Amino acid sequence: MKPSSGAGVVLIFLLLAFNVQVLAEVSPDRQAALRHLLKQDCGSCHGMTLKGGLGPALTKNEIMHKPKQLLLTTILDGRRGTPMPPFRGLLTEEEVNWLVELLYQGDI
Ligand code: HEC
Repeated sequence: MKPSSGAGVVLIFLLLAFNVQVLAEVSPDRQAALRHLLKQDCGSCHGMTLKGGLGPALTKNEIMHKPKQLLLTTILDGRRGTPMPPFRGLLTEEEVNWLVELLYQGDI
């Protein structure tokens, strides 16, 4: 074993722990609010069931091949020159992360 591999394992462990921590940071109340927002606000453009409208479908099948980072920055910063608005300021990065996970799992 190379001397550095121990540190690698620790790093992976920390990253995993951090990831879980980030997801856990969204309180149950806030999670309910985010689900509501997804239907009401995002749904006004992406469709109530997120199958598409003015904006593209956000169903699991449609987004599972897109990088999470792209979805994250799209939601946080919007897409200039398109109707997709930025949600930075309204939602924290942790909350947007949580939303992206929800979309990835198709749990909507
Ligand atoms: C005013 C209309 C509108 C609202 C509200 C809106 N979107 Fe969008 N959204 C769009 C449009 C239009 C696009 C496509 C932009 C483009 O042409 O690249 C888009 C793109 C996206 C994408 C990228 C999809 C892809 O296939 O690349 C994601 C993810 C997304 N929206 C999520 C959300 C979420 C989550 C919300 C609510 C928090 C939301 N949107 C609210 C109109 C909207």
